[in-house]
Amino acid sequence: VIEEKITIRDMAEADLPEIMKIELDSFPVPWSEGIFLGQLQRPEITDNRVIIVDGEMCGYIASWFGQGELHILSIAVSPERRRRGYAALLLERSLARGREKGCVKVVLEVRESNVPARGFYEKNGFRIIGRRKGYYRETGEDALILEREIEAG
Ligand SMILES: CC(C)(COP(=O)(O)OP(=O)(O)OC[C@H]1O[C@@H](n2cnc3c(N)ncnc32)[C@H](O)[C@@H]1OP(=O)(O)O)[C@@H](O)C(=O)NCCC(=O)NCCS
Repeated sequence: VIEEKITIRDMAEADLPEIMKIELDSFPVPWSEGIFLGQLQRPEITDNRVIIVDGEMCGYIASWFGQGELHILSIAVSPERRRRGYAALLLERSLARGREKGCVKVVLEVRESNVPARGFYEKNGFRIIGRRKGYYRETGEDALILEREIEAG
């Protein structure tokens, strides 16, 4: 039996060096530390969580809420810790927070070519509701807009 101690808690400024490692390993155009700080400076409209497994920072989710919608801005798990359900745990927590804040649906954009993320969102009940042409400026790639209801808790 493999036992893991999993902790999910609010992101803090002190987490940023470790978060940045995951970020750089996860995205073609990573967020800067300043973007994370901007999120942390708006606790009234954002939800930012980290997942720690056996003392190791393994992933994060950043979202904001308003007008009845939760918007997932970013989610990543360190490459060697993927496909163990950690992103699903982070999503679940953010959805719960959104529900508390009166959100009835969750929306996000994903790169059309991001097969793992699209698989992850499909598995977690999202459907494609639209497309933003050339949304990713550096490559001109389209974003797909995904949505799912947040059911009453
Ligand atoms: C997307 C991401 C956060 C998923 O994290 P994760 O911890 O591996 O996700 P979970 O373990 O909760 O879910 C795994 C499920 O996602 C889907 N999935 C994950 N990787 C996949 C892949 N390479 N191909 C197809 N589906 C995939 C599958 O449905 C998988 O379920 P399975 O393992 O039972 O087949 C992770 O791949 C990641 O950090 N990617 C880089 C950053 C990124 O692209 N973020 C999304 C931006 S919109």
